[in-house]
Order: sequence, then structure tokens, then C-alpha cells
Amino acid sequence: MAKEQFVVTPWEVSGKVDYEKLIKEFGTEPITNDILARIKKHTKELHFMLRRKIFFSHRDMNWLLNEYEKGNKFFLYTGRAASGPIHIGHLLPWVFTKWLQDKFGTELWFQFPDEEKFFFKDELSLADTEKWTYDNMLDIIALGFDPKKTHFIIDTKHASLMYKTACEIAKKITFSTVKAAFGFKDDNNLGEIWYTTMQAVPAVLPSVLKGKNIPCLIPLGVDQDPHFRVARDVYPKLGFYKPAIIHAKFMTGLLADGKMSASMPNSTIYTTDTAKEVEEKIRKHAFSGGRGSLAEHKKYGGNPDIDVCYQWLQAFFEPDDKKLEKIYNDYKSGKLLTSELKAYTIEKINAFLKEHQKKRELAKKQLGKFLYK
Ligand code: TYM
Repeated sequence: MAKEQFVVTPWEVSGKVDYEKLIKEFGTEPITNDILARIKKHTKELHFMLRRKIFFSHRDMNWLLNEYEKGNKFFLYTGRAASGPIHIGHLLPWVFTKWLQDKFGTELWFQFPDEEKFFFKDELSLADTEKWTYDNMLDIIALGFDPKKTHFIIDTKHASLMYKTACEIAKKITFSTVKAAFGFKDDNNLGEIWYTTMQAVPAVLPSVLKGKNIPCLIPLGVDQDPHFRVARDVYPKLGFYKPAIIHAKFMTGLLADGKMSASMPNSTIYTTDTAKEVEEKIRKHAFSGGRGSLAEHKKYGGNPDIDVCYQWLQAFFEPDDKKLEKIYNDYKSGKLLTSELKAYTIEKINAFLKEHQKKRELAKKQLGKFLYK
């Protein structure tokens, strides 16, 4: 693959992602300062992931805010297709979703399509995805979502709730549309071809259940956009609103660019990693923007823009803009060494995970409050 090439689909993210180019390719819109000002009018402050344009792109945010300002409150929808443990990259869109829930006081529908990865990965059984679904729920509950306003739906468990709407949607999507959107071939199984309909359903499920149209906002990692690009053409044909979407950039893996992915353990920090494991992974594997020798680093400075630790602080672990700026400048000037930047990042991540792991334990008793009945 040529250096400037990259791939972003729900099944594959590779290469160095050029987010400006992606906005053009996907036909989305950049998050502008105007949009940020509109959001801030209601939330009073901006989440650092907005200020730093970690959420960099959207569809129909102006429409959503117009509706909100007319008194037409939206609900949130996002999801997780479990196939293994949760890593810190997964948490990024969910931490932001929790902030949105708090600031706008909204309902959240959280989908667990336990059939998705079963369809797409030969080695996985439905028993595996079920096991991981319940495991992954603990991480989501641990982030502090409001149990009174949050509804977990599992595709195989809540199939009857969703099936009619899935059929309505499926009838309006042709095979040639999904072939063009996802590059499917003759050897893709029927489950893979059908799956987009299931992911499309929760964006209108509350409207179906309430018998009136309710606006929807979907925060997600940008790899998930193609499902909704296909589905958004269908909703109005069935008399529903198109959902608004807000897209996150990817948290990179430890080794370099690209998306942190559960299938690359050496490149990934899991939420259940011990403090020692985190330290070892970062010390050994985190791609650094430092120079070859200490003397060179002190003389010429490092490159924070390619440094994984810096990028993680920016995207997730250092909400304080002033501290982040100082780290950026000190690293660039050579005053801050790679070993020091790594130590700071390890400390931040381990402080976060210590709390998270406690809350994750407590979440075991709370599952019942979140599962939709
Ligand atoms: P899944 O389970 O692969 O990922 C769950 C969410 O995590 C995001 N994500 C990341 N975000 C930032 N950096 C990363 N390194 C990273 N890795 C994963 C994903 O973009 C996603 O938002 N089909 C979906 C499940 C789903 C869903 C939805 C997602 C069902 N309904 C509605 C978003 C919105 C999936 O396989 O996600």
C-alpha cells in the first residue's frame, strides 16, 4: 500500500488516515467553530474532545440543534459488537456519549449486536459473542451512564422488538447498494449482507415505540459511518427522520498510526490490564517521536505529532489544555524526554484504569438496571 493510501470501513482500518480526505470521501461535514458555539450555548462548556476536534466530523448537527432549540429533544444511540475485551480506544466515543447524556439529559439506546462479529469472524461462535457481550457491558456501565435513561439492547435477545423495523429497512436496501458500500463479493454470507439493517434499527426504535418521530444523535468512531450512510437514505422513505451523527477520530495503537484494535494485543491497552502490564507495554512498544539518542533529543527536540503517548494524552488522558500545551512545547524543544513522557502517560492511564476497574466490579450488580425489559 502506498504511504498516502488508507482504508476505513467497518471491517478494516489501515494506513495513515487523512481525516480531511475522509470527510470528502464519506461526504460528511467538518466540525466547525460555528457548530461548537451552537453546542456550547446549551452545554455551557465544551468537552475537550470537541475543543480538540477529536470529534472532527458530523452529519446534520445543525438540523439536530434546530430541532432541540424548537423543544424537540433528541435521544442518543451507539453500540458495541463484542468479540473480545474492551480497549481504551473503544472507550473514547463512549466517554463523550456519557458527557452528552449528562449535558443534554438524554435517553441513550446502546446496541449490542451479538450476531455481527459472529457473521464476520469464522472462529467465533454465538456463545463466544454472548460471553463477551456481558463482559463488555461492565466497561460501559463503569463509565457512569444513567441507568434510568440508558437502555441496553442485545440483537438476539431483543430480536422481536427490532425485527419488524429491520424488515421494513431491509426491503429498501438492495444487494447492489451494500456491494458498492462494503465491497461484498459472492462469497460473503447472508448474515454479513443483512447486518446493516440491524444496526440501522435503534436509530428509529424509540420513534417506533413512542409512535412519533424523535430526533437521534449517534456518536461513533468514523469506521461505523458507512452503515448509516446506507441507512440514512432509507429512513425518510419509511417516514422517519435521518439521524444526526458525530464522528470520532481513532485512538491509535501503541505501535504507530492506524486504529487501536483488539486483534493486535501488543498494540492495545485493555481496560483489564494491570498497572504493570500497562507500564511494560508502553515502555517497550509505544511508538515515540523522540530522537535516536538523549543528546540529539536534548539538542533538536522530539516530534509530539507522531508520538503515541502524546496522541493518547491529547485524545483521552489529559483534559487540561494548559498542561497538554506545556507537554507539547517541552517535548518539541527537547526539555521533556521520551522516558519522562512515557512515565507521565503510564501514570495517567493507570490512574484512570484503577478507578475504572473498581467501577467495573461494581457494575456486575447493575446489569439488570440497564437491560431493556
Ligand atoms: P465496535 O464494537 O467495533 O466498536 C465500538 C465503538 O468503538 C469505536 N472504536 C474506536 N474509536 C476510537 N478509536 C479506536 N481505536 C476505536 N476502535 C473502535 C467504534 O467506532 C465504535 O463506535 N458495528 C459496531 C457496533 C454498533 C455501533 C452501533 C457502533 C452497533 N450499533 C451504533 C456505533 C453506533 C461495531 O462493530 O463497533
